[in-house]
Amino acid sequence: MEKKIKNNIYWVGKVDWELRQFHGSEFSTHKGSTYNSYLIREGKTALIDTVWAPYAKEYVRELEKVIDLKKIDYIIANHGEVDHSGALGALLHRIPDTPVYCTAAGVKSLKGQYHADWNFQVVKTGDRLSLGSKELVFIEAPMLHWPDSMFSYLTGDAVLFSNDAFGQHYATEALFNDLVDQCELYSEAMKYYANILNPFNQMVAKKIDEVLALNLPLDMICTSHGVIWRDNPVQIVHKYLEWAKNYRENQITIIYDTMWNSTRTMAEAIAEGVMESGGINLKLYNASITDKNDLITEIFKSKLVVLGSPTVNRGIMSSLAGLMEEVRGLGFKGKKAAAFGAYGWSGESVKTLEGLLKNAGFEIYDEGLRLMWNPDGDAREKCREFGRKLAAVSAS
Ligand code: FEO
Repeated sequence: MEKKIKNNIYWVGKVDWELRQFHGSEFSTHKGSTYNSYLIREGKTALIDTVWAPYAKEYVRELEKVIDLKKIDYIIANHGEVDHSGALGALLHRIPDTPVYCTAAGVKSLKGQYHADWNFQVVKTGDRLSLGSKELVFIEAPMLHWPDSMFSYLTGDAVLFSNDAFGQHYATEALFNDLVDQCELYSEAMKYYANILNPFNQMVAKKIDEVLALNLPLDMICTSHGVIWRDNPVQIVHKYLEWAKNYRENQITIIYDTMWNSTRTMAEAIAEGVMESGGINLKLYNASITDKNDLITEIFKSKLVVLGSPTVNRGIMSSLAGLMEEVRGLGFKGKKAAAFGAYGWSGESVKTLEGLLKNAGFEIYDEGLRLMWNPDGDAREKCREFGRKLAAVSAS
């Protein structure tokens, strides 16, 4: 279905209400997603990005209802990942000679994935493509979040097609940022940033500064996932700048796993101690029953993260090991951390957790708390005292 965005710009993408997992099962998408594709009908017609492969046939069928495919002069592939390029094969099967504009890295990515020799036209930052009275200007955005990523900017309409940047996995028919629930929108935008873009913080900040320095008028940001930012579009740009600078809120997050509730009892008593200090937002989760991407978003928001695990086979429980592998890759900086855990005999879990946290870039409060067997009243008081100390550490 075609939906008008502005003047001669139309949305021709796919809303995926059912999507619950993305990147295999690495990213939970509780609210689905959209694959936004745009048709610009000026003197020349340009198509920007396509949709995920399972929707390729449907996409081409729907596109054909709104335009004679032969009238598409240019295809712009802002990013080669399959959620945006997945319908290129089906489309180019019908219009094989149509030029595909992408970065040099985009050619490698698309050839590597589809093994097709399409009519690639390599562009770099500053290159322009005339659509008649308006032009598309290309801006390479390497590692936001793949080497091939780029933005396209339409002069005259002042619209930035930003692909993944500023996007959200958020299924909606509403299309625009001012028409959806703002809490849901920002929650999904932050989750997207924390789980995908955080490793590229420095490049995000540099690219945004570079684009802002161009002083281009900006009327809309058309992302490739979720809503289009038309109401005060720079709000999400400024939010990205904030998130890119080792973001943290006044929050402590305790994440634990437990076998027979000893470590859970410790976690809850530590939380009591933290809360006695007041003035801080405290979150507490069992890693084995909580969505890992939501946990990562909470870590993103935290200034201090406290991990707890009982000792199992001289190590830790697998939910925390898996979580920490993701956290390591995301490269959080400027955050403190501590560890705790119950044990029966050998008791290595705290050291193991501290090692993983250190390896992931956290500053360790290394007086971790180990307790034998099930915590009694005195042991619970030790946990509360640990919590009070952590509150003080987080404030320092
Ligand atoms: Fe939405 Fe990097 O693909």
